[in-house]
Amino acid sequence: RGSKLIGCGSAVPKLLISNDDLAKIVETSDDWISVRTGIRNRRILSGGETLTGLAIEASKKALEMAQVEADDVDLVLMCTSTPDDLFGSGPQVQRDLGCKNALAFDITAACSGFVLGLVTATRFIKGGGFQNILVIGADALSRYVDWTDRGSCILFGDAAGALLVQAGDGDEDGLLGFDLHSDGYGQKHLNATVKDNGTPRPSSNGSVLVPPTLSSYSCIHMNGKEVFRFAVRCVPQVIEAALQEAGLTGSCIDWLLLHQANQRIIDAVAARLEIPSDRVISNLANYGNTSAASIPLALDEAVRSGKVQKGHVVATAGFGAGLTWGSAIVRW
Ligand code: ACO
Repeated sequence: RGSKLIGCGSAVPKLLISNDDLAKIVETSDDWISVRTGIRNRRILSGGETLTGLAIEASKKALEMAQVEADDVDLVLMCTSTPDDLFGSGPQVQRDLGCKNALAFDITAACSGFVLGLVTATRFIKGGGFQNILVIGADALSRYVDWTDRGSCILFGDAAGALLVQAGDGDEDGLLGFDLHSDGYGQKHLNATVKDNGTPRPSSNGSVLVPPTLSSYSCIHMNGKEVFRFAVRCVPQVIEAALQEAGLTGSCIDWLLLHQANQRIIDAVAARLEIPSDRVISNLANYGNTSAASIPLALDEAVRSGKVQKGHVVATAGFGAGLTWGSAIVRW
């Protein structure tokens, strides 16, 4: 069975942090940030807002556009690396949306999470038994940013986006082709690792167990130059592989929609694939890098503004920590 993409939605926090705001806490400037990255503003969770709350708001909009009732959702895939609960946020999103007949779980793959979730949803539909699947990309990397590191704190923002994937009629398929990769050797370039394993250990004389200390994660550590090189090298390759699987060429793409990490990466990939800038979707200036949320957030804005229309072919690609990267060529 094929899949159809029939609804999308997004949500961002209220608090806007501009480049000038950041220049008050680290040595940087609006000019440096916007020239090197294309980012001007980002939104950050505050005042009791939660990631789960953003995911619910985005999902409600996607359900409304799709005209699907919460009861009719069979699966909620919460793609996030920064859940509100260590054990995952998917089931809480399911509960608060009222998707009482759905299975819900989290998928963790950083900025590639949404592409992996989208492909996973279509595989569940193909396998049978699943009719309506909500794929949510949501992240709050602001929780793990080192706000004294000007090389990384300027990049990230918080957001959520959602997509309703429905079983298609006959062979109709909204997922035309895909290609997915990971490379754990590259983890050294981008990570936020656990600080303490928290396990009990024997005391020095070996007689009693010392209680575990609470674990937490370190701030995001990133070698920006390496991540930049990785993205510019691997993203065009993965899109070409997905296009080949779909039996398409670059000229069939109506819209190029990459994970929104850096405008220079977007421009370099578009140039490599010979896609003109008027067919490239970018909202990075307003939100920064929102990790797993960036693709569904940009898709939602492009659909609601009338850019992406029914039947358009959208080449998506996610890339980031893991390292992970992948492309899904979809028909809206
Ligand atoms: N303001 C002013 N100066 C700065 C800033 C800043 N915010 N940040 C770094 N600099 C300085 C550096 O200290 C350095 O100074 P020096 O020459 O005196 O040593 C100079 O600017 C150049 O620094 P670089 O790090 O070489 O700058 P670069 O051009 O590589 O840009 C950036 C840095 C924007 C981070 C870029 O490397 C990048 O975007 N990389 C990709 C990041 C990315 O896409 N991540 C996506 C995955 S995220 C995820 O998966 C969770």
